[in-house]
Amino acid sequence: MIFSLEAPAHLWTTTLQGLGGIEQGSLQYRRFPDGESYIRVHSPCTGRDCVIVASMQDPDPRIPALLFAARTLRSMGARRVGLAAPYLAYMRQDKIFEAGESATARYFAEWLSSHFDWLVTIDPHLHRIHDLAEIYSIPTRVVRSAGRFAEWIKAHVEQPLLIGPDQESEQWAGDVAGRLRAPHLILTKVRSGDRNVAISVPELGEYRDYTPVLVDDIVSTGRTMAETVQQLVAAGLKAPVCLGVHGVLASGALDDLKSAGAHRLVTSNTVENPAAEVDLGSEFAGGIASFLD
Ligand code: R5P
Repeated sequence: MIFSLEAPAHLWTTTLQGLGGIEQGSLQYRRFPDGESYIRVHSPCTGRDCVIVASMQDPDPRIPALLFAARTLRSMGARRVGLAAPYLAYMRQDKIFEAGESATARYFAEWLSSHFDWLVTIDPHLHRIHDLAEIYSIPTRVVRSAGRFAEWIKAHVEQPLLIGPDQESEQWAGDVAGRLRAPHLILTKVRSGDRNVAISVPELGEYRDYTPVLVDDIVSTGRTMAETVQQLVAAGLKAPVCLGVHGVLASGALDDLKSAGAHRLVTSNTVENPAAEVDLGSEFAGGIASFLD
């Protein structure tokens, strides 16, 4: 039985299509005037395998509701409770940089692992943590977006040059480039603040005829993409196409990208946003199905 906790609407629809006749459960979620969460499960679930598909955009107000929902299903006798989170939040603070900082990636993983039996997600931010198994103690599956992004590029971009703005983007940019047999470059990024990044670009003269296609996992403030776009345009390349798996899009990100000179931004539908064009529903459904009997 599958439940939505503010699942991204389009992804929810195509995921259900991908899962065929799976039974939908009814989960009521609202906030009290003081901000606390109210959860009620209307579907009997004793002995059932249950899945919650949950949005983790703007995670802090949503996480208590998610944990309450899992706990409620269990209290009603669910056999197993799985979490299908298209965008997995809290993966970026993956290291203690300064003494006293909270290792939130690890602690968040501990919370989720203690409430759920398994986890499916799409392209989590794996950087200094190389595998979800390093921090999650429950079984996990990672669904890849590269195939769908490669299809999108094939249909929309002539002579693409794939560019990853930082070292960790190699896993996404390199994968997409490999599928298209297109060249790719990985740049160097130094972040000095939430909205401050510096990107180093090598000599690019030989790529003047290519269309730069930036590929990254998360677009949050958009500064990583915007800085990269500015550098590429200044180097004489065409206006870049920006592809992000998770369009988290903090306020101002879209305008910032436009003013930097981006041709357009396209993301997947793991997070609802105006640029969500690449549908990952069937891949996500496949990941969920792999945990169901
Ligand atoms: C982190 O390195 C990620 O891969 C992204 O590059 C980063 O989250 C983008 O953040 P922003 O859009 O705020 O620059």
